[in-house]
Amino acid sequence: MAGQIQAIRGMNDVLPEQIGAWQHFESCARELLAAYGYEEIRVPIVEHTELFKRAIGEHTDVVGKEMYTFTDRGGDSLTLRPEATAGIARALISNGMLRGARHKLWCIGPMFRHEAPQAGRYRQFWQVDLEAVGFPGPDVDAELIMLCARLWRLLGISGLKLELNSLGTPESRRVYRERLVEYFRGHAAQLDADSQRRLAGNPLRILDSKNPAMQELIRNAPVLTEHLDPESRAHFEQLCAMLESVGIRYEVNPRLVRGLDYYTRTVFEWITQSAVAQNAVCSGGRYDGLIAQLGGEATPAVGFAMGVERLVSLMTSGGQLPAAAVPDLYVVVAGEQAAARALQVVEQLRDARPGLRIEVNMGGGNFKAQFRRADRSGARLALILGDEELARGAVAMKPLREQSGQSECPLGQLAAGVDAALAALGPADAAPAP
Ligand code: HAM
Repeated sequence: MAGQIQAIRGMNDVLPEQIGAWQHFESCARELLAAYGYEEIRVPIVEHTELFKRAIGEHTDVVGKEMYTFTDRGGDSLTLRPEATAGIARALISNGMLRGARHKLWCIGPMFRHEAPQAGRYRQFWQVDLEAVGFPGPDVDAELIMLCARLWRLLGISGLKLELNSLGTPESRRVYRERLVEYFRGHAAQLDADSQRRLAGNPLRILDSKNPAMQELIRNAPVLTEHLDPESRAHFEQLCAMLESVGIRYEVNPRLVRGLDYYTRTVFEWITQSAVAQNAVCSGGRYDGLIAQLGGEATPAVGFAMGVERLVSLMTSGGQLPAAAVPDLYVVVAGEQAAARALQVVEQLRDARPGLRIEVNMGGGNFKAQFRRADRSGARLALILGDEELARGAVAMKPLREQSGQSECPLGQLAAGVDAALAALGPADAAPAP
């Protein structure tokens, strides 16, 4: 036997038993985004490497260490997208969609980062990404955060903490950056290897270090919020007031700097304490300079992305899984002639009742074995297509989840008979425990 081919580490299959939760997440998100006026956009999974280098920044971990980059057969350097914002900004520019216009966009799809896989951290992971382009805020920043809070309520996810910060303008950040470099240089002996490396390229990221030995040094470092320009400070104060006015609790975290370079002013993360997901389940912020930096006309914008695996695992860790696909009817087929007729009868029933979920017994089996499969399917009603009944122009029906007996209905009135039998059983509920 040939050796088995393994899945790529950190790239997961979403199996049928998990798909109910994914679909529930997606349909709640889809409905809510439409209600807030967001339109879906689909952009390629592969882009020129240069796009991500310019948008995300050469000194970030994502660009420096985590991208899946390859040369295609034409000799171009391409990269599997590590996130969606850069591609959407590129799409707005290449399709001439800016020119002062405003866009509220969202997309869903897989992203790729070569990180160390662990629970909640994968190399292929899915994001639902939102971008509000052409809006200077802070009203739209607040609305995006309110939308998140509403989605958590819809999904039954509780206990998420909102962390908020402002990174100011590139100018105010430059001043702060100099102060920070000065401070860390003064304590160079206490810096770990990672932070030594970041000091030259991306000193703000030192504030993000999880190394316990670095925490004291980080706690005493100069704080970005104290170096904000007056406009950014006013923007941030207005955002905080808007959130307070709708009762959204937040914590200002002056060390929240984010791992992508394009942010200006507002940044935020929704954090979970649960062990089933990594701590940030949703994060984003404002990127007023990005579109101009990619060659488009200067356009303010703000957005965020949610990690779908992380949110789905929070939804399901409480145990209430949305029902998997359970058929309404299981069709038991008894006899040779019935086997030949069954598919035809069922196709007619599907024509008459397109929404009905029907599972036809496939591959034969005696009566007992077929009923065992019918029970396991979770269906509420069995249709029994037998030689003897068909010869009389009839179909038998038997409820599967209660003790009432078998009944019959004329073949010519099958759809109405099924309606009545299902109605008598009451509304469909969740799947039985496997
Ligand atoms: P990000 O913080 O890099 O931001 O990723 C957003 C979310 O994707 C995270 O909060 C997390 O839930 C999820 N995520 C990130 N990496 C992984 C991973 N390796 N495995 C599983 N989930 C992961 C962005 O990507 C920005 N583009 C967000 C944005 C949109 N900012 C403005 N607009």
